Amino acid sequence: MWLNIKTYDQYKDVYRESRENRLDFWEHEAGTYYWRKRWDKVHSGSFKKGDIKWFEGGKLNVTENALDRHLNTIGSKTAFIFEPNHPDSFRRTITYRQLHEDVCRFANVLESKGIQKGDRVCIYMAMTPELVISALACARIGAVHSIVFAGFSAQSLAERIQDCDAKMLITNDGLRRGDKHVPLKDISDEALQNCPSVDHVIVCQRTNRDIEWVEGRDEWWHLLIRNASKHHEAVEMDAEDPLFILYTSGSTGKPKGQMHTCGGYMVYTSYTFRNVFQVAENDIYWCTADAGWITGHSYIIYGPLFNGATGIIFEGTPTYPDPGRFWEVVDKYKVTHFYTAPTAIRALMKEDLSYVKKYDLSSLKVLGTVGEPINEEAWHWYHDQIGNGNCPIVDTWWQTETGGIMISALAGVTPEKPGFATLPLPGIEPALLDENGKLIEGNGVEGNLCIKHPWPGITRSIWGDHDRYLETYMKPYKGYYFTGDGCKRDENGFYRITGRVDDVLNVSGHRLGTAEIENAIDEHDNVVESAVVGYPHDVKGQGIYAFMICEDEPNNGETFEKEVRDLVTKIIGPIAKPDKMMVVPGLPKTRSGKIMRRILRSIAANDLENIGDTSTLLDPAVVEEIKSRQA
Ligand code: PRX
Repeated sequence: MWLNIKTYDQYKDVYRESRENRLDFWEHEAGTYYWRKRWDKVHSGSFKKGDIKWFEGGKLNVTENALDRHLNTIGSKTAFIFEPNHPDSFRRTITYRQLHEDVCRFANVLESKGIQKGDRVCIYMAMTPELVISALACARIGAVHSIVFAGFSAQSLAERIQDCDAKMLITNDGLRRGDKHVPLKDISDEALQNCPSVDHVIVCQRTNRDIEWVEGRDEWWHLLIRNASKHHEAVEMDAEDPLFILYTSGSTGKPKGQMHTCGGYMVYTSYTFRNVFQVAENDIYWCTADAGWITGHSYIIYGPLFNGATGIIFEGTPTYPDPGRFWEVVDKYKVTHFYTAPTAIRALMKEDLSYVKKYDLSSLKVLGTVGEPINEEAWHWYHDQIGNGNCPIVDTWWQTETGGIMISALAGVTPEKPGFATLPLPGIEPALLDENGKLIEGNGVEGNLCIKHPWPGITRSIWGDHDRYLETYMKPYKGYYFTGDGCKRDENGFYRITGRVDDVLNVSGHRLGTAEIENAIDEHDNVVESAVVGYPHDVKGQGIYAFMICEDEPNNGETFEKEVRDLVTKIIGPIAKPDKMMVVPGLPKTRSGKIMRRILRSIAANDLENIGDTSTLLDPAVVEEIKSRQA
């Protein structure tokens, strides 16, 4: 029987049991899936060694659990409702049976192009059902998918393709997001100039614009699937075989390819989806994320499908054609579960309330947030105006690395508290540690958030760089997984995430490394050195502030800033564009040359009173000069 926690008392019991008998807890959960062969060992490895394995020796294919298993029971149930960018465009629903057929067809296409178990396939697509079909078809044949958010630039796409040596790219001719057009195929062509590993490009038609065509390399999706069989025998995978790679930003260097594996990821996303959201048989669940991020992977594609839920795939944006778009969709499909990012809530609460009031939102039962801390004002607006005061809100804390939700209320089951992710899920033991690595016990405390024991959904490695995996997550606090987040535990033991303690920014729920942005800015001919920090932004959560030392003082400040923004857009993508910039004569550095970001953060936040001690700086006068430019 699947674990489905229904009362707070049951949560407490299950939590206690999971602590006392961790492996039994996960073994029981895993036992509810379809395995071609049961595992030999539930778990091995440790954070100390960074060699974590779950359900070793178990054989399965995740798509048999997401699709085949449902055919005899809920084959005619809707798996996905597709809502296009423009409300008047063609929309469609896809049943589990149709999705199974589409995935089988495309799996056959991939195999006919020579893609085999273990090969990497890059997916750079619009938010349409074909994106989901591509990912699942890869999983079915054992190829490792790497989905790249279709807002990244050619250079970022190329970097991700090169890092994992992808053999194939699946893309669209283009996409429309709001009133913008993104020429995905042109961007792909540019990226592929530097990606010799890619032999095949499959192009799915979406915008019908003119595109370049490379004979022998490029093929149309619709022509390929026409004659493909709808039958496909799923390839048998080991529980620890890779399922996908997803790149995410870290505090240093290039993006890290987080590697998730088949068995553990399946068990973890399915368990968390079921217990956090409490989706019932006829509910309509909508996660507004893009499948290019982990939220889309775990809670649009995998978690809901393992549980046989009906989900929405939304191609659009919260404000197109107007700021009532989300609420119009909720009304149209009688959405029961709505899961979005605080940045979207903050943007929409600034709009006239008539955009909300126009629609009937009474179908809503559960609201969720993800990706960044939610401020109390936004929480209350969401609760009162969207949930009409009677929908529980699950504030779900987790990361690309964790695979699934780690700390969150269970909807309507465990208590909630505005601004707090609240309690860990059974199976998860958070720990707060101080700077010196000492465990902080008791309640009413604050520290760096770590996790005590491995769980099935944890990333197993950084693709091609296991040392970096060990350095980043396992070494900072020996014996623990380090999250990179700061956290408070209140007097009742509820957790509140306070934000990153490393040089990672969270801009509109998107994770960006300061080093990545700095590297892009430094490509400007006139920039000698730059330092990027975050500052409080009332919609984005954090805005990007870039301090730059220039070779020559720019003649025209506006032109220079535009050049820098364009450059960052070209190198990374529009999400990484600095919001504010300042040309400075120098940066506050310690005698050993380390930039004192704390000082820049205070200046960026206009908190000039609290800059703190500058006496250890190489040149304290620099701070006064920067302060005067800010003022
Ligand atoms: O800082 C935390 C923040 O987002 C980071 C993870 O980012 P990413 O890997 O892109 O995954 C985002 C979607 C899961 C975390 O280290 N974060 C995520 N959820 C929350 C959050 N901060 C506060 N509250 C949350 N609910």
